[in-house]
Amino acid sequence: MANVAIIYGSTTGNTQSAAEKIQAQFGADAVLLEAATVSAADLKDYDVLILGSSTWGIGELQDDWVSVDWLDGADLNGKKVAFFGCGDQAGFGDSFVDALGILKDKLASSGASFIGAWPVDGYDFSGSTAVEGDHFVGLPLDEENQSDLTDERIAQWVEQLKGEI
Ligand SMILES: Cc1cc2nc3c(=O)[nH]c(=O)nc-3n(C[C@H](O)[C@H](O)[C@H](O)COP(=O)(O)O)c2cc1C
Repeated sequence: MANVAIIYGSTTGNTQSAAEKIQAQFGADAVLLEAATVSAADLKDYDVLILGSSTWGIGELQDDWVSVDWLDGADLNGKKVAFFGCGDQAGFGDSFVDALGILKDKLASSGASFIGAWPVDGYDFSGSTAVEGDHFVGLPLDEENQSDLTDERIAQWVEQLKGEI
């Protein structure tokens, strides 16, 4: 199994809780890191990066990610990268989980290959920069409106990731 780092930023704890559940499913193969504590040099230890950010403002990255300096211009050649994060599709239906799209955009030229796309079926929103075709670029979770689906979504997504790794 590859070395996996789950790197998250979370303001009220929802994305942190999701990150912990994802880590639990990977077990000893994955470490859990807070985005604010991770430097570019730390990334070399991992083959797979699973990046989590909730969305704040109107379609903005969670605060801890705003100050992460390695996102722009990162060299992630040979690594696989996946995204997840919490949002609110009813309250912010025009910018639902935009942070996932922002993260992917920033890493577009990094050389990474992206895994973990997730179908838009089952969500009710009107706009998101995290959508490409009929998939999100990663796993959206919604504790405000669909918290009952979170554990099942995470379980399915981690199995999908294990297949793609
Ligand atoms: C002021 C404010 C702005 C928000 N903006 C968005 C948004 O643009 N898009 C979205 O999907 N969710 C938005 N949310 C919802 C949060 O992303 C959601 O509550 C999430 O679960 C927070 O996760 P965290 O605890 O990991 O930070 C916003 C919430 C608040 C309070």
